[in-house]
Amino acid sequence: MKTTHEIVHGDARRMAAVPDASIDLVVTSPPYPMIAMWDALFTGLDEGIGEALEAGRGLEAFERMHGQLDAVWGEVGRVLKDGGLVCLNVGDAVRTLAGDFALYPNHARIQACLLGLGLQALPAILWRKPTNAPTKFMGSGMLPAGAYVTLEHEYVLVFRKGGKRRFVTDDQKRLRRESAFFWEERNAWFSDLWLDLRGTSQRHPGAEAGARSGAFPLELPYRLMAMFSVVGDRVLDPFLGTGTTLWAAMAAGRHSLGYEIDTHFRALYRGGLEGIVGWAAGRIAARLQDHHRFVQEKTDQGVCLRHTNRHYGCPVMTSQETDLRFPLLQSVTIRSTTRFEASYAPTPQAVPAADGAATTSPPPARETPSAPRQRQLFD
Ligand SMILES: C[S@@+](CC[C@H](N)C(=O)[O-])C[C@H]1O[C@@H](n2cnc3c(N)ncnc32)[C@H](O)[C@@H]1O
Repeated sequence: MKTTHEIVHGDARRMAAVPDASIDLVVTSPPYPMIAMWDALFTGLDEGIGEALEAGRGLEAFERMHGQLDAVWGEVGRVLKDGGLVCLNVGDAVRTLAGDFALYPNHARIQACLLGLGLQALPAILWRKPTNAPTKFMGSGMLPAGAYVTLEHEYVLVFRKGGKRRFVTDDQKRLRRESAFFWEERNAWFSDLWLDLRGTSQRHPGAEAGARSGAFPLELPYRLMAMFSVVGDRVLDPFLGTGTTLWAAMAAGRHSLGYEIDTHFRALYRGGLEGIVGWAAGRIAARLQDHHRFVQEKTDQGVCLRHTNRHYGCPVMTSQETDLRFPLLQSVTIRSTTRFEASYAPTPQAVPAADGAATTSPPPARETPSAPRQRQLFD
């Protein structure tokens, strides 16, 4: 199996290289309006933004910045297939302009735009990112009523175009089953509150150079792809930044395409490739080891898992997990400065651990004949 990954150095307000209805999943994080690090970029797109900021007209600047993003969301709506999904990471902003402190609700403004484009909103995720910043306690300190709640979360908004995606052919159904996740992963990942993802510390070593770029941790797009797409799908990030979505797509066995307007990132992309093969192997090993621990815990509790995964030989909770297999990234070939091709091992069995040692698949759980029958939720 092979996947392709492409970078377009250009403006996502017009993605001419992307045909209508050709994308299965969008995973992205835009520059956040009203966060000072993006003022220059937005002002470059519309100089009225700089003037509004200077004059302390916060709401005007906020609206003009979103006007620039709206054009990208319009393109996202065009290129998405029916049944395709959008996962959009964004945080609100707080800012004092002309002496007035205010919240600028980016997530609500973007949600309104995508709903206006005809997309459906699905339940969103609150990604909690605790801060130790000295500005944590903003406002009047211990004195009411001018103290402010600390913003310690961002959103992952989720939208769908059209109705539910349909899997019709035998091939589509097989790929969907192979792209399943473990029962216990579903319970953690589909919570509306994520507490376990920490800033950029979970990014792979090759991408460190992008630390001051608003990059999200590699686990974020990887997990969203596992949750909302199928192996072999095409994923788009219109705000590619350091390339995190591309590396995650390689690790997850999805094709990908990213747009990035800032030419400074060009020099970073080759570096970003370094370490992705090791990261992907380590992530699969960790998922299998976590599953092994889960099986052990259930066994110790006297719960018998009735199904067996046919690729890894391990017990699983439901029949939906029996065909689950992870595409194992083996190498990435640089076809040009903007095109990469990822190759995968033919069999998912041999999974090298992060430290280079071989990892075996989780062993089957001990049979516990007297165990209560596990309640089946999905089959
Ligand atoms: C928050 S960063 C994305 C970071 C990315 N998720 C990562 O992990 O590196 C937003 C990016 O969008 C880019 N950008 C802003 N407007 C754009 C546009 N109209 N077209 C393409 N890229 C744009 C910025 O240059 C910036 O790199």
